[in-house]
Amino acid sequence: MHRVKLADDIYFLGFNDRRTHLFENYWPIPYGVSYNSYLIVDEKIALIDTVERHFIDDYLEQIKAITNGRPVDYLVINHMEPDHSGALRAVVARYPNITLVGNKKTFDMVANYYQITDQSLEVYDDSILELGKHKLTFATIPMVHWPETMVTYETSTKILFSGDAFGSFGAMNGGVFDDEIDLNFFEEELMRYFTNIVGKYCPHTQRALKKLEGLDIKMLAATHGPVWRSNLNYILDRYQKWSSYTTEPGAVIVFGSMYGNTEKMADVIARQLAVRGIKNIRVYDASKTHPSYIISDLFKFKAFIVGSCAYNNELFPSVETVITKIEHMGIKDHLLGIFGSYGWNGGGVKNLKTFADNMKWDLVYDPVEEKGTLKQSKFEQCIELANAMADKLLA
Ligand code: FEO
Repeated sequence: MHRVKLADDIYFLGFNDRRTHLFENYWPIPYGVSYNSYLIVDEKIALIDTVERHFIDDYLEQIKAITNGRPVDYLVINHMEPDHSGALRAVVARYPNITLVGNKKTFDMVANYYQITDQSLEVYDDSILELGKHKLTFATIPMVHWPETMVTYETSTKILFSGDAFGSFGAMNGGVFDDEIDLNFFEEELMRYFTNIVGKYCPHTQRALKKLEGLDIKMLAATHGPVWRSNLNYILDRYQKWSSYTTEPGAVIVFGSMYGNTEKMADVIARQLAVRGIKNIRVYDASKTHPSYIISDLFKFKAFIVGSCAYNNELFPSVETVITKIEHMGIKDHLLGIFGSYGWNGGGVKNLKTFADNMKWDLVYDPVEEKGTLKQSKFEQCIELANAMADKLLA
């Protein structure tokens, strides 16, 4: 079996999951995902995070093979979400004298999830854990993306074990390091991971980036996806950009339509945006495209134009799902347009106006609402909505 080393005595223990359809039972992962744990073998032996519980047997076997049967002394818990703490109990059972290393919030979770209340070493931002020639330091990065999240820094190799931060969807297809893989392929999955999993916590991510600024980092080892050693700026620049809501001129148009009337309005708006020179236009049927992809594109493009037909005097359900998720994530700094249609008594656009009030984005034009099929005067209003949006995007 290949052993992937980050440095002498520092091992990558990553496991590919190509079976799970939905990460956290919600987010589609068509290209799979990896769960990465790391092992440092020194006078003392330390694991950094574990793996998802389906991989426990292989994981324990690999640890045993690398350590030649020596016991593991420490398990550093950067993040308690079960895709990384899933093997915690198994590790403790195998190595009963192990010490769990975490912060105050970590151990509250260890007790609640796994009913383990001893064997713990609480660390702080100025703590040093000596393993021999390797020394570990720690920094909490709360809410990136759980309260207890922290990172661990190995001082001799300057490797930052970053937990979910800088992670990616996508199983590792042979390549493990950033210079072994096609970054163009990974970019979309990297962004979807950030926007879907961490995206609600952009201000916290900004604070974390600031906190890590002073560290001399030679390698970023996350709990998902590639290990970054040759293109650190590639990932750091993207995190800076995404977490500061820096977008490109472009529009995400999302519609919910039962019989095509609202979809027709979306097409008119999209066409006029293109006529005005906007090239980045994505049109999504909310019933067909998972919010995961729509949210990811919202972090790319400045404009969001959303349309809904009325459904039992309410929003169309699939549109409701999308905008509820967007509201919940608190995405900032966008331009907004809204439109829709109804058969007898409205409901779609009325609720989109509430969404507009809640988001406090820049509503570029009055909502356009048609009764039944699209007719000339509302056609012209769709054109005007697109023009107003293009004016703002091109300004
Ligand atoms: Fe990959 Fe937040 O767990």
